[in-house]
Amino acid sequence: MIREISESERKDALREAVRILYRNLPAYTYKCQDTASTDGIYKPIENNEWTTGFWPGELWLAYLETEDELFAHVGGIFVESFRKRILTHTAVDHHDMGFLYTPSCVSAWQITRNAHAREAAILAADNLVSRYQEKGEFIQAWGKMGADDNYRYIIDCLLNLPLLYWATEETGNPRYREIAEKHTETCVRNSFRSDYSSFHTFFMDKETGAPLRGETCQGYKADSSWARGQAWGVYGLALAYRHTGKRSYLDLFEHVSEYFMEKLPEDMIPYWDLIFQSGDEPRDSSSGSIVACGYLDAADSYEKLGEYEKARKYRHLAKVLLKAIYDKAMVRSDEDGVNGLVKHGTYAKKSPYNTCTPYGVDECVSWGDYYWMEALYRLGGTWKSWW
Ligand code: GLY
Repeated sequence: MIREISESERKDALREAVRILYRNLPAYTYKCQDTASTDGIYKPIENNEWTTGFWPGELWLAYLETEDELFAHVGGIFVESFRKRILTHTAVDHHDMGFLYTPSCVSAWQITRNAHAREAAILAADNLVSRYQEKGEFIQAWGKMGADDNYRYIIDCLLNLPLLYWATEETGNPRYREIAEKHTETCVRNSFRSDYSSFHTFFMDKETGAPLRGETCQGYKADSSWARGQAWGVYGLALAYRHTGKRSYLDLFEHVSEYFMEKLPEDMIPYWDLIFQSGDEPRDSSSGSIVACGYLDAADSYEKLGEYEKARKYRHLAKVLLKAIYDKAMVRSDEDGVNGLVKHGTYAKKSPYNTCTPYGVDECVSWGDYYWMEALYRLGGTWKSWW
């Protein structure tokens, strides 16, 4: 069994992450990082992917850690980029508004009271709400609204919903929260199987709104559990509980977490799909970091409920997952040929049964870097979540 990450290892890991961020700043001040690295290096891209909010999120975490105004300055440059993106409706015809605008703009608003950040994040919430389908009560993930081949949501969307809760708190308009709650209920009813594994995507009937079937895009096959989908489920349920207070979400969180832990290999770095527990298939280290963040969030909730045993359990499991990444996947700042923070992530691996376009297999992935930093910083005990 792997040990917990120690306090000195946590500090060391954050220090290394910040060093890599300093080194990366010149390349990614007016450009974004690609979704995943290519042979270890992120290509600089325009702000047009679903993942470009993660690098600014890392900058805000680095600002909190170091108080170096340089990070806030570059974070502010990205706020303008994200504001322009939503004002010009550039590459936003999809549901990933939370992944984009929570770490880049809700964070900036929270930390610096940048009014453009608030404006951009509310416009992004409006865009997310515009993808709500009454028939079936879900937010449509991809494609043209109402298209037959895309009348579905995906489990990942649980992480887009905190943007809506935030928008209601900011504006007083209950509509954002109502849609987040409806979508969560639909997801909870359909996306988890009786053994608490999960479907990646789920189709609804366009005429009646009835649930139709689970399918996969990035998992190995429709009835396996894509590791990152399960991880989005874990963190998403912890957040759903925190935002709604519905105990059933926390209970489901426990079951979904248990399934995830049971399917880990001995070294605790998840394979890209939980159907694999040994062998040469690629890993997805990012799933470990996402789950660690979910565990730390749930631990705080258990603490507030006075359930100290459970709070301790999930903090312990988070530290174990982080220790595995520290030992096996973390990048050190003196390592050549790689400019991400964590190796062995997988964005999309083609299988005979899935529909994804392969990209970023056994690479650094932008959210893997971000959630690694979020977990490390949060473990320090002073973070106010922007999710
Ligand atoms: N949300 C897409 C992914 O996790 O790859």
